[in-house]
Amino acid sequence: MTNPASLLGNKNKFLILGCGFSGSYFAKTIRKLGCIALTSSRSEKRDPNSFIFNSANNTVPNEKIFDGVTHILSCIPPDKNGNDPVLESLKGKLQSLSLEWIGYLSTTGVYGNTKGDWVTETDEPNPIQKRSHSRFNCEKKWISSGLPVQIFRLPGIYGPGRSTFEAIRNQKVRVIYKENQVFSRIHVADITNAIIYLLQNKDSIKFHQIINISDDQPCSQIEVIQHCYDLLGLKMPKPILFEDAKNNLTPIAQSFWMENRRVSNKLLCETLGYKLIYKNYKLGLKDCFLNIKK
Ligand SMILES: NC(=O)c1ccc[n+]([C@@H]2O[C@H](COP(=O)([O-])OP(=O)(O)OC[C@H]3O[C@@H](n4cnc5c(N)ncnc54)[C@H](OP(=O)(O)O)[C@@H]3O)[C@@H](O)[C@H]2O)c1
Repeated sequence: MTNPASLLGNKNKFLILGCGFSGSYFAKTIRKLGCIALTSSRSEKRDPNSFIFNSANNTVPNEKIFDGVTHILSCIPPDKNGNDPVLESLKGKLQSLSLEWIGYLSTTGVYGNTKGDWVTETDEPNPIQKRSHSRFNCEKKWISSGLPVQIFRLPGIYGPGRSTFEAIRNQKVRVIYKENQVFSRIHVADITNAIIYLLQNKDSIKFHQIINISDDQPCSQIEVIQHCYDLLGLKMPKPILFEDAKNNLTPIAQSFWMENRRVSNKLLCETLGYKLIYKNYKLGLKDCFLNIKK
């Protein structure tokens, strides 16, 4: 990354709405670059830089939180009614601010099932799952809000603390085989760094409102699980055929197997010039493996 501090300096104040896995990685990174980053969670004020925001019980941040805010990143999924928690509770407030940028973390679930074909940002979304319909509606509401929003469509997110290693350790891993089935994925560090790259270079690269952030190598889940077992020096359990396993899966787990697509990152990595830190799961898992050994 080229001298990020010079372009994302201490003039910027970020609110990270929904400081879960991706949000906290982003907050930690931009603080290191000299930015102020305040983060929200639903129930507890975790530190002096955090505040409570919970759309479900109308707990909204106080006025002071918004003073001088230039950038917002929303990492909050649609609520149980399919609405966007941030737009439902804070749209008017955000419209009254002089914001430079809002990032919205969405999902590649909006593309639906392409039977293994590649999808790009110019493909018309074709959501299948109810939650993906909600997500697509939320995207549309963000776009029509008139706010300076940029949408990032993400596949399966993994990274230190949330990877197949934890699933193996917690005995939550299921080794399932489904012919020709692939998944796309992204390391959490690349979500953060891609966004920072786009913000740093906003004056020299064309603005795109919707951008996929995914790695170069969609592949089967078994390939990833096998690799983790190999790194751990353990023997992978025998795979179960999807047809035999599906009735024991939760509805949400089943729904993931109903969609098969390869998410293209050509816009981000070729047109816009972002260089992935972790181009594929092997590089990304190496980072996660070092973390579990610490
Ligand atoms: N995980 C994946 O593999 C994946 C893949 C593609 C896209 N995505 C999407 O990308 C975004 C970031 O994912 P993530 O896995 O980093 O998220 P995450 O760890 O689940 O964090 C979600 C955050 O949203 C907050 N939140 C949820 N409902 C809320 C509400 N009604 N009002 C206020 N705050 C609320 C949570 O608050 P608490 O901190 O209090 O829990 C949490 O901080 C999400 O929209 C997610 O759906 C995730």
